[in-house]
Amino acid sequence: MAIAPWAMPHDQHWFRRREGLRRERFGQIWADAVPKVFEDVPTYYRKGNIVASLGLWELWVWQFVRSIRLEAGNRVLDVAAGTNDLGLRLLRKQPRIELTAIDRSREMQAYGQVLARRAGLRIRSVIHDVHRLPFPDHSFDVVTLQAASRHLQLDKVLPEILRVLEPGGMFYHCDMLKPTSPALEWLYLRFLRLSVAWTASLFGSSDASRRCVSYFSDAIQAFYTPAELSEVLAVCGFTQIRCSTSVWGGMVGFHAARKPARCPGTADPMRPRP
Ligand SMILES: C[S@@+](CC[C@H](N)C(=O)[O-])C[C@H]1O[C@@H](n2cnc3c(N)ncnc32)[C@H](O)[C@@H]1O
Repeated sequence: MAIAPWAMPHDQHWFRRREGLRRERFGQIWADAVPKVFEDVPTYYRKGNIVASLGLWELWVWQFVRSIRLEAGNRVLDVAAGTNDLGLRLLRKQPRIELTAIDRSREMQAYGQVLARRAGLRIRSVIHDVHRLPFPDHSFDVVTLQAASRHLQLDKVLPEILRVLEPGGMFYHCDMLKPTSPALEWLYLRFLRLSVAWTASLFGSSDASRRCVSYFSDAIQAFYTPAELSEVLAVCGFTQIRCSTSVWGGMVGFHAARKPARCPGTADPMRPRP
């Protein structure tokens, strides 16, 4: 579904308010609990996702990878790359790209490097908080972000992604989003609590992970619907925004968006344009 630019209010205040509320509610969890959760999970991260999603994780990632256009020589950045689950699939799809992975979890990235070595593939790893990307403007042709934006401040991360993209470069996003229908949301959030709880006990997760069971569904409840996320991308300065949804009645959303070819390489694309 392509969102017509005239259909978007581009209301920066709406976006800032919403991000302020997310930060107020989850800021402490993002800073303290989420890093502890990802210390514990690297070795069973992929299996855990498959179990928790009743196998649909693989379909979701396959659909996302299929939607990403890559050309030989592309410089690709995978933001919040975790164990390189996505990066490895991108390299299999187009081996002649340069892939950089950034994540603040040393444990997730260390295991991601083990997986890359096992597959005979090369991924440059950068350990850093993604709210500030330690790369010069216009460093990448393609940026991806999968299954992490619920844990991030989008009013910081998206402008950073826009900054490091080449003019005309593409951003691809995929995540579990807030369902548009309240009935579906009710069912989905209940399922999610159960599935995260049973996955945590099956894999013997740490206390930190068990304490986050309700956070995972609360974070989705406070997140954006697919249409809202399209609007967020427009507010942040992206163009040619396309959105499609997947399994679970649209609860997983795929967005593709372009950095305008003539974008002032500004550190804050949300500031008023001349
Ligand atoms: C659910 S995992 C997703 C990993 C990967 N994108 C994938 O799809 O398999 C979320 C990742 O986001 C990372 N993360 C969360 N907040 C972060 C931050 N502020 N800076 C960098 N990485 C962050 C976590 O360390 C974790 O590896």
